[in-house]
Amino acid sequence: MKEFKRTLITTALPYANGPVHIGHLAGVYVPADIYARYLRLKGEEVIMVGGSDEHGVPITIKARNEGVTPQDIVDRYHKIIKDSFEEFGISFDVYGRTTSDTHRRVASDFFRKLYDKGEFVEKTSLQLYDEEAQQFLADRYVTGTCPHCGNPGAYGDQCESCGTSLNATDLIDPHSTITGSVPVLRETTHFYLPLDKWQPELEKWILEGHKEWKSNVYGQCKSWLEMGLQPRAVSRDLDWGIPVPVEGAEGKVLYVWFDAPIGYISNTIDLVGDDYTKWWKDPETRMLHFIGKDNIVFHCIVFPAMLMADGTYNLPDNVPANEFLNLEDDKISTSRNWAVWLHEYLRDFPGRQDVLRYVLTANAPETKDNNFTWKDFQARNNSELVAILGNFVNRAVVLTHKYFNGELPAAGKLEEVDEKLIVEINSLKDQMSEALDTFHFREALRLAMDMARAGNKYLQETEPWKKAKTDMERTATILNMAIQTCASLAIAFEPFLPFMSAKLVKMLGGDKITWAMLGCFDLVPAGAKIGEPELLFEKIEDDVIEAQVQKLLDTKKANELKAWKPEPVKADCAYEDFEKVDIRVGRVLECSKVKKSKKLLQFSIDDGTGTPRTILSGIALSYEDPSVLVGKEICFIANFPPRKMMGIESQGMILSAVNPDGTLTVISPSADVAPGAQVG
Ligand code: 2FM
Ligand code: ZN
Repeated sequence: MKEFKRTLITTALPYANGPVHIGHLAGVYVPADIYARYLRLKGEEVIMVGGSDEHGVPITIKARNEGVTPQDIVDRYHKIIKDSFEEFGISFDVYGRTTSDTHRRVASDFFRKLYDKGEFVEKTSLQLYDEEAQQFLADRYVTGTCPHCGNPGAYGDQCESCGTSLNATDLIDPHSTITGSVPVLRETTHFYLPLDKWQPELEKWILEGHKEWKSNVYGQCKSWLEMGLQPRAVSRDLDWGIPVPVEGAEGKVLYVWFDAPIGYISNTIDLVGDDYTKWWKDPETRMLHFIGKDNIVFHCIVFPAMLMADGTYNLPDNVPANEFLNLEDDKISTSRNWAVWLHEYLRDFPGRQDVLRYVLTANAPETKDNNFTWKDFQARNNSELVAILGNFVNRAVVLTHKYFNGELPAAGKLEEVDEKLIVEINSLKDQMSEALDTFHFREALRLAMDMARAGNKYLQETEPWKKAKTDMERTATILNMAIQTCASLAIAFEPFLPFMSAKLVKMLGGDKITWAMLGCFDLVPAGAKIGEPELLFEKIEDDVIEAQVQKLLDTKKANELKAWKPEPVKADCAYEDFEKVDIRVGRVLECSKVKKSKKLLQFSIDDGTGTPRTILSGIALSYEDPSVLVGKEICFIANFPPRKMMGIESQGMILSAVNPDGTLTVISPSADVAPGAQVG
């Protein structure tokens, strides 16, 4: 395997048009952070580069909808995103933004160099143009009817109803979302990167040179290459972005996917200045792109082709892309608000960043899409973090305080059980290193937890609380071993649970930790003062989880309501037919569930005749407590022939409205009306 001197880690730049959620954290930022922290612990030279992606059409749409500028939008979300990452301990060396001056200059120069080298082809094509707004329309700015499923609200790039990818020109009856006018086709010229030109080189580099890449990544590249690469437009007619630095290209900007990956370079420049060449051009630097699966083609094909076209940059050595994380069995979606937003998690679970980091890693979508559920979150916290890791550390620290006043006793002669623990911790360390080196972070975390399990087993086997009654020397050795194991755990978990690790290191009186120290049983010197026992994790109670689940149920309900459309109006009904139906107002005298029936309620109604009228109505499922209807005025049909149900004769029908969720609500007049009044 090739030896490297240093590692440049890049993380996908999230779009600054909304906050970040658990899917971002699980797929990109926690894995990248784990790896960066691991390399730093090993003493390697590493930088982790991130930032916000602040161009692109969705940002302009959001700005237009809110009546603010695109800059307002990206300023708002860049801050929210950056703060969330910081709070979660994502250890960026730099977190920049693509509206920075450096980035504008670097991206512009990058484009110009390729242009001067003749690396682009210019092509003229027909695009939809809004004559009223006097601008070309990005695909997202056009809606119309989907040619595949007939959805009248399909976007120019995709129909969200049937999921088909579209071209804006495919839409039936297209409309501009800016002015509502019907767009016309107009010629426009754009710059294209001829990916076909780089196909042979890309094939050699990926298909032959990087067979070690994760199978999901390699497989996606292979299928793109097999389909044959086409030239890709790298400019757009838009007023938000980096202007194309070519005379005659006024009004055109760089395509967001052209400038965004250059953000990795410009953010490195913001961090280290001219030294950036060491990170980007020295063949002894390896570059890793941490991304989600939707970004694979851009990082494995398009960006490398851009770098090849420049000719002076390194190519990535690996792109350990993850699959997607679902939430409670449903795709995470910003537009449907189906997400656990990081800033909301921080509000609802203050100080518990490590718990989410743990759960997202234990469940990381490394090889297939995975699912986050609040129940699993609770179970992993309570039965793993609290019951295994927290419990072990707590027992070791509490017992050291109880028997030795918190002063670490020296270890005496080791017994077989002690030697076994040392061997086990070191074997787990080796397995962890292997897993981390190959980006198997779930496995590495499981192995770290196995270290804590080994610690618990050790205490169970050696029973220092019993030994303390007869043999303080042996008790001293056992607790020394236990505390040294705690120190190893602080190191093993540092990449995953950095907050817990820092707390534990402090509790043990430690300072700097390194990966090499892990598995050494002399990390805490005899005589060291161990801090007061502090709980590392706390149990999460059912009501806290239920509140989160309820929040999601409310979101689901709100989404159903948004998606709901009233039933189409029935065929015409002649007035003479309507006149035959005798609708009246009545006051509910009594209302109760019909025995042995799930659906029926029995009403006794004052219909103005002086004799109460009995009506049965199939709305029991919508009225948990039918007594709420007593005293209310309702509308009913008075001239339906009597009908017997469950042995009771019903003399009419109560009118109710069908809600979007299928529940029924009885219809009442808007003010008091005399019982028996006719409705018409
Ligand atoms: O998919 C996304 O969220 C993009 N903003 C990722 C860009 S990654 C890189 F190229 F900057
Ligand atoms: Zn469709």
